[in-house]
Amino acid sequence: MRIDDLDLTAPELIADPYPVLADLRAQTPLAWHPPSGMYLAFGYHASNALLRDRRAGRLWRDRPPAERFEPFNALHRHQMMENEPPEHTRLRGLVAKAFARGHVERLRPRVVELADELLDRLPSQGGFDLLADFAGPLPVAVIAELLGVPPADRELLRPWSNAIVKMYEYERTDAVETRAVTAAAEFADYLRELATVRRARPADDLVSHLAAIEDGGTRLSEDELVASAILLLNAGHEASVNVLGNGMVALLRHPTELDRVRAEPSLIEPAVEEMIRYDAPLHLFERTATQDLTIGDVTIRAGEKAAALLGSANRDPAVFDEPDRFDAGRDPNPHLGFGAGIHFCLGAPLARVELQAAVTTLLRRFSRLELAEPPVVRPTFVLRGYQEVRVRAG
Ligand code: HEM
Repeated sequence: MRIDDLDLTAPELIADPYPVLADLRAQTPLAWHPPSGMYLAFGYHASNALLRDRRAGRLWRDRPPAERFEPFNALHRHQMMENEPPEHTRLRGLVAKAFARGHVERLRPRVVELADELLDRLPSQGGFDLLADFAGPLPVAVIAELLGVPPADRELLRPWSNAIVKMYEYERTDAVETRAVTAAAEFADYLRELATVRRARPADDLVSHLAAIEDGGTRLSEDELVASAILLLNAGHEASVNVLGNGMVALLRHPTELDRVRAEPSLIEPAVEEMIRYDAPLHLFERTATQDLTIGDVTIRAGEKAAALLGSANRDPAVFDEPDRFDAGRDPNPHLGFGAGIHFCLGAPLARVELQAAVTTLLRRFSRLELAEPPVVRPTFVLRGYQEVRVRAG
């Protein structure tokens, strides 16, 4: 395929992007993509270099018109992921400080409990939808509990978050935008209220800690607190849901690897890393050049945009032996699934603990687990995942 013909919204690409990405990566590690008006980094080294280059940043621009998009814009303007130093350093430092108190490892037994509770609710015979019944609700429950969102309110979170993240795709209707703005406004109001309650009566949760943190006299403003909590809630589950869905589909399609993981529990850690590498939940992250920069033999001019294609980077044969093979024991596995550079995923330790605990629990509870039907892919390229994964279990 010629890069000019690459359509990031094409259903055939979304169904299985890897052969097309391999073809383009073999032609060029980094090239201009006219349809999206930005450079695309297909190769591992090019993606890594782009993410680490301080002359390429995440520069947030409010989406016009301001009157319509303000609730959506405000959530992004005030959070670390859409800012560069010095704002990024300050916001990330303050949130990391509150986050560190959570002692992520301490959460492992709690994640197992939550996973068991979800599996207890399933019918004793037959099958279930791995996504709707397990992979979807589990990460939401974990991050909601960490932040201190009461259990009764948890079902509000996924629809809000789903509506907001649809804005990161390349094909959006007016209805999608309206739903995203409404969700952003409702989500922010909800968090503002929760923060008020926790300020008055602090608990041992992240919203209380975020409200309390001080760092050399600077604190999070209320807008920053709301935006940070929503970032944690969204980033904290959208990717984990899809790693669990995509990763379990990959494992079930490789029964020998599944048997290996069952037989050798120490393989759970490399198997989870392989799930993140093999079928990336997040395929594309944009940057804007603040100065001219050169990667390989391509010069990106100040003001131009470029994107790292993480799913493509993670299948680069220059770095991974037999990249299209799912190898539960792959070592080394320097995948870029959590990004690289200053925006490297703040939640990576939590994601690892919850994914390891989730997969371990699933395999413990079912000695037989197999796909009952071909899983249904979500129609989006940037956030890659399944809509439905029917499994037979026993
Ligand atoms: C397997 C699951 C996850 C994956 C694959 C993932 C992936 C990523 C990636 C690729 C980035 C970098 C974005 C960029 O460079 O532009 C990122 C950033 C981030 N992630 Fe994750 N993430 C996961 C889970 C989580 C969890 C559980 C949390 C929090 C509870 C979280 C919180 C964040 C935050 C706050 C950032 C922004 C960091 C910054 O801008 O400095 N993520 N994540």
